[in-house]
Amino acid sequence: MQNTAPVVAANAKARTVTILGSTGSVGKSTVSLLEGHRDKFRVRALTANKNVALLAAQAKSLSAELAVIADESLYGALKEALSGTGIKVAAGHQALIDAAGAPADWVMAAIVGAAGVESTLKAIQQGRTVALANKESLVCAGPFMMEAVRKSGATLLPVDSEHNAVFQVLDPAQSAQIRRIILTASGGPFLRKTRAELANVTPEEAVRHPNWSMGAKISVDSATMMNKSLEIIEAAYLFHVKSEQIDVLIHPQSVVHSMVEYIDGSILSQMGAPDMRTPIAHTLGWPQRVATTGDRLDLTKNINLTFEPIDIERFYAIKLARQALASGLGYPTVLNAANEVAVEAFLARKLAFSAIESIADQTLQKVKIGPISSLTDVFALDREARAIAGKTLAALK
Ligand SMILES: NC(=O)c1ccc[n+]([C@@H]2O[C@H](COP(=O)([O-])OP(=O)(O)OC[C@H]3O[C@@H](n4cnc5c(N)ncnc54)[C@H](OP(=O)(O)O)[C@@H]3O)[C@@H](O)[C@H]2O)c1
Repeated sequence: MQNTAPVVAANAKARTVTILGSTGSVGKSTVSLLEGHRDKFRVRALTANKNVALLAAQAKSLSAELAVIADESLYGALKEALSGTGIKVAAGHQALIDAAGAPADWVMAAIVGAAGVESTLKAIQQGRTVALANKESLVCAGPFMMEAVRKSGATLLPVDSEHNAVFQVLDPAQSAQIRRIILTASGGPFLRKTRAELANVTPEEAVRHPNWSMGAKISVDSATMMNKSLEIIEAAYLFHVKSEQIDVLIHPQSVVHSMVEYIDGSILSQMGAPDMRTPIAHTLGWPQRVATTGDRLDLTKNINLTFEPIDIERFYAIKLARQALASGLGYPTVLNAANEVAVEAFLARKLAFSAIESIADQTLQKVKIGPISSLTDVFALDREARAIAGKTLAALK
């Protein structure tokens, strides 16, 4: 029988979604997925930091109810870009937090860096289903985030391809029988370079990832392997496992996105083409599935899967992450803050690529970490770590 239900009725059943950071790499992939499923989803809010033109174009394309620009000085420009559309406009930090907390069935947290922590937390506190791309939320404030999830009953779905893979193959009923989680790492653009060869690499070379197309910060993090370090911390909080239960293997093809090994020797993995639309779609459809038009893996095309142990003397960001986790609350916050300062300086050509981990290491050694009992303490520590990392950087000149 033909389905004659009017379109309006279908839209009335549409799930409502909000994208925090819609103009970024993950944000754009999310927008493109939604554009392919206009009948299934209604967009409540889109947010950006400064990119008025793209935000306005996305809001128009998806008929969003609200567009929020975090940079308050751009309110007029956004208002003008959306005049006559009926789309509401807001600007400033508080407007972004309000958008994160406004009712929506699914919230994508895709702001980059610690700047995304507060909005992620707000969505969690409202008990939403939160698709978490912003790993820094867990790195900076993992225990507070997870406590908020427990209190509010929010659903936290990992978007990072590795954690999304683990989430897909980790049976919570068997969590006591997990031997280890294996995070795969492509190795980034400098996998075969020695440390000495890294001294003069440029930002352009560092952001040219061999397999993934991503924002600048995470691309540099992938090149230093700090991204994998942050992912170890993210996995520890998300899946309640110890650092020793999380292994990292270099897998240059980025086909196996991660694995879980159980005590009986079974290793379960999730595979797919390196295309963020797949993990994003997984969280968008969960507990069902949503079709994507993204790249597909053709297993008959001579796919050669290789795995190598990681050399932690070469990629010593991994060592820093394990030390930070072992040292306790606050240390991962400091590691993240110092790394953000160092990456920003590198992208601005004010710091050598090979000095990024050293800034993080020195900052971890210099910051005095007192008791941390609230998110206010986390933010204060984040500020202090940034100040110390900034001074350490300045002293290098
Ligand atoms: N890219 C990937 O493939 C990928 C994969 C896994 C995980 N992730 C994680 O996803 C997050 C986003 O990464 P991305 O690569 O998509 O980053 P990106 O391309 O740099 O985009 C960042 C987004 O955040 C917004 N933003 C930046 N600073 C902000 C601020 N202070 N206040 C409010 N909004 C702000 C940007 O707005 P403007 O455009 O206006 O600047 C943009 O929408 C990161 O935590 C990353 O680790 C990314």
